[in-house]
Formats: sequence, structure tokens, C-alpha cells
Amino acid sequence: MLKLIRIFAFLLIAILGGLWGLAWYLRAPGEAMGDAFLRQLAQFGGADMPAPSAGGVQLPQGIALGGAFSLQDLTGQRVTERAFAGKLGLIYFGFTYCPDVCPTELGLMASALDLLGPDSARVLPMLITIDPARDTPEALADYVSRFHPALIGLTGTDEEIATAARAFRVYYRKVHPPGASDYLMDHSSFIYLLGPDGKVRQLFRPNTPPETIAAAIKGQLRQL
Ligand code: NI
Repeated sequence: MLKLIRIFAFLLIAILGGLWGLAWYLRAPGEAMGDAFLRQLAQFGGADMPAPSAGGVQLPQGIALGGAFSLQDLTGQRVTERAFAGKLGLIYFGFTYCPDVCPTELGLMASALDLLGPDSARVLPMLITIDPARDTPEALADYVSRFHPALIGLTGTDEEIATAARAFRVYYRKVHPPGASDYLMDHSSFIYLLGPDGKVRQLFRPNTPPETIAAAIKGQLRQL
């Protein structure tokens, strides 16, 4: 019995070692070793993982983010995930009163769009507010125009925002910092790159360099 366990352990180590080697050999430029290994492991297990493009976080197999939402833009028009047809989407959830994180991330998004040059016309960037009480369509439009001319701001009822946030697993909560006159929103901060179907293809952690985001978008545009 002990011998059998030893053989099994040896085989397991050999397989994992082999997959690690394969992952090292096959990983995409810029892909983290851990990501490449997980991809190999998933493939070995029979799952079929999408080919990675440089940068961003690949979603683990079986996890789907994004999908249907219905919000409104400055003119009161309904905007849904169908707006991405034939394009890629770049989405960020935030709010205009955010003192630091949101402006930083929106700035990175804008820089990535600029790096794309003419290709940026094939990307629809959006800021979805998680603070609809203060972010009126007018306030949002004014705010987004400071970052990029193509960026659109979307708002909705509390319920509509909650539905959109749930689809993207976005966390947000009202907080009252001591001494502050008004509330802030605590929120998760990822930039989502969406396919034409409105499903997330890649997501970017806070402070991802715009070059990385632009490279990932270029990779996805090639598959469009
Ligand atoms: Ni913020």
C-alpha cells in the first residue's frame, strides 16, 4: 500500500512538474508564470481555456462576468450590453466624488485608449456610477469629459445599478469617514475588458500600466 502511495505521489509530482515546464515553454509574452501554469492545469483537466493575450487577468474557467444591464446616458437614452455589438467594451464602476482611486483608474483607461490610436474607435469606454444619488447624468457627462472624449457616463436607479454591479461582481458600500462632511463610496476597482457579447474577456487590477491595457485590447481586437 505504501509503495502504491509512493508511486502515485511520484506520478503526481512528475505530471505537475511536466505541466509547469510546459507552461514555462508555452506561456504568452508577459503572462505570469502562475497564470500560465493554471491554464495548463485546466487544459490537462479537459477544460478549454481561451488563448491569453498579453496583460490582464484571465478569468478562471467557469467564471463568467458581465452580461445584461440596462442603464441611461446623458440624454436619457437606454444603454444596454447590446451597445458593444461589433466592438469591445471597457468598463469601470466608480463615482465622481471619489478622491483618488477612480480618477487614477479613469486616467489609465484614457491613456490606454490614446495608445491605441485609430483602433480606439473599436472600443466603447464607460464609467458606470455606483453613486446614482449624487451622480446625475449631467454631473457624469461633465466628469467623464475631463478624462477622454469617447468615455460615456452611465447611471440608473439604485436597482439598475445594483443589477449591473452584480453582473460584474462589483462591491460598493456607502461609508462616512470621521470628520468628513459628506459620505464616500467604498468600492472594488477593476477595469473590465468586454467582448461584443458584453461578457468580460479580461480584467485589470488597480494601477495596471496603460501599455498593458492597450496591448490586451489589441490582442482582443485581433480576435474580433
Ligand atoms: Ni473610487
